[in-house]
Amino acid sequence: MLVVESYLKKFRLDYFLETGTYLGETLGYIARRGLQCISIELSPELCRQAQIRFKHCKNIKLFQGDSSQILPGLLGQINKPVLFWLDGHYSGGITATAETHTPINAELKAILGHPVKQHVILIDDAHCFDGTNDYPYLDDLLRLIREDGCYSVEVSMDIIRLTPKKG
Ligand SMILES: C[S@@+](CC[C@H](N)C(=O)[O-])C[C@H]1O[C@@H](n2cnc3c(N)ncnc32)[C@H](O)[C@@H]1O
Repeated sequence: MLVVESYLKKFRLDYFLETGTYLGETLGYIARRGLQCISIELSPELCRQAQIRFKHCKNIKLFQGDSSQILPGLLGQINKPVLFWLDGHYSGGITATAETHTPINAELKAILGHPVKQHVILIDDAHCFDGTNDYPYLDDLLRLIREDGCYSVEVSMDIIRLTPKKG
């Protein structure tokens, strides 16, 4: 949460989009800062719980479904830089899974293809990117981002961090 918050401050972003709401802990923490927040959760039950928890928060919009399907449509309505917290993946327990354990390939393709190139993209759980369970290899992912050319990328504290090359 502190890492996400530090990027919001550094890049002066007003919009936060999370994939994988889960219990809403990060979402609630960030939403208290007053920015516009969107969160997508695959599990109908977890989404329902979040709708109850955040029913009075006017700056939070919740979507239920697979982020690889929902994100492209939302991006079509976005024309400002956003902080993306890409954390929607199967994590055992009560968490849900779509056809793949992680929608990261589709999510990243949609965001890198978006006309706005000043987003900040944080991808949690870098250690999972080992070629198993539908995760790409970390090296392949980093190569793809570097070839795209619009974002600098570094990995720290298990978070893959993409920041815009041009301000
Ligand atoms: C690690 S938890 C998210 C934690 C949360 N972002 C936070 O910071 O507190 C992952 C969540 O992603 C959800 N999920 C799994 N696959 C998904 C998908 N394709 N689209 C959206 N959410 C997904 C799971 O049900 C689970 O609730």
